[in-house]
Amino acid sequence: MALLINVGHDGWMGDDEIAKILSAHTPTSDVRTLADPGDLSEVSMLAVSRLDPDLPHRLPNLQLVQKLGAGVETIVRHPALPDHVRVTRLKPEAPAREIAEWFLTYILNAQRQGDRYRRQQTQADWSPVAPLITTQTQVGVLGLGHIGGYTARLLDQLGFQVHGWSRSPKSLPGVTCHHGYDALPALLGRCDHICAILPSTPETEGLIDARMLAAMKPGSQLLNAGRGDLIDEAELLQALDRGTPGLAVLDVVSQEPLPANSPLWSHPKLTLTPHVSGWHLGDALKDVAENLRRLSAGEDLLHEVDRARGY
Ligand SMILES: NC(=O)c1ccc[n+]([C@@H]2O[C@H](COP(=O)([O-])OP(=O)(O)OC[C@H]3O[C@@H](n4cnc5c(N)ncnc54)[C@H](OP(=O)(O)O)[C@@H]3O)[C@@H](O)[C@H]2O)c1
Repeated sequence: MALLINVGHDGWMGDDEIAKILSAHTPTSDVRTLADPGDLSEVSMLAVSRLDPDLPHRLPNLQLVQKLGAGVETIVRHPALPDHVRVTRLKPEAPAREIAEWFLTYILNAQRQGDRYRRQQTQADWSPVAPLITTQTQVGVLGLGHIGGYTARLLDQLGFQVHGWSRSPKSLPGVTCHHGYDALPALLGRCDHICAILPSTPETEGLIDARMLAAMKPGSQLLNAGRGDLIDEAELLQALDRGTPGLAVLDVVSQEPLPANSPLWSHPKLTLTPHVSGWHLGDALKDVAENLRRLSAGEDLLHEVDRARGY
């Protein structure tokens, strides 16, 4: 039973680096990379960050695709992945904390008038403005899973009034929980900052459309670290021109890398980061090694994804 590693995108950890760490976790296992894959019919488990669309066709005995991260939309929806192939993801604490910090960075920047002072500095303008009061600030977290739950708890600890939104009912200490499509417009209308950390599924694709953008609080800030297809980007630019929301910060966009001619680059109310909010895996690769062992032993897998639900 061999594990094949094909990270599948540049600018992050490489196949050899992952293979070395995994081999250290599981020295007796057969861990391979595409550079020297051997007989591909021996591969039962594939570990990827981005799935090469042609690869499943070459792996006749594939049983498990392990995502080296969280978002699995391209894997669960892959037309060539037979139904019996299972999908697992990682749930490391390190990137959940990093993404929560990313949200916090831009929330605090807005609370403390960071953009205004950078503009004033260019004009030698010493005009103080009161910071916004944390305990009177309402923050909505869309998605209350592994990362959203971490984010909501952190914001609550800092004293923000936190509202969470999920598909199914939830209960989190210190967080006012809402669920379901019909509850979303009212939640958007009351919050000063909206932190979106939802998976890409048929239900979430295009969810933040003209109607939802119009439902947001005037002058509020929309932050998205989940997936770019959540937001109708053309509608967002028009909404920013109208001031509802007043600001947007996007770590993910519908086409990555963002094309040089995209109008998103230059909108004065929009800040972009290149899909970097969660970066480090911490010690999560030990769960990949554990899933290889569990697959061989016929045991339940760690962090298995519901392929039908899509996350
Ligand atoms: N930018 C980055 O670097 C980066 C890094 C990691 C992950 N991500 C993205 O972040 C996403 C979330 O990660 P996670 O680990 O927190 O996922 P997760 O643990 O699976 O949680 C997903 C949350 O979204 C909610 N949800 C799903 N569909 C919904 C719908 N139609 N309406 C309302 N709520 C819905 C779920 O509701 P229930 O609780 O009711 O199921 C759950 O609370 C990933 O799928 C990935 O796309 C981005």
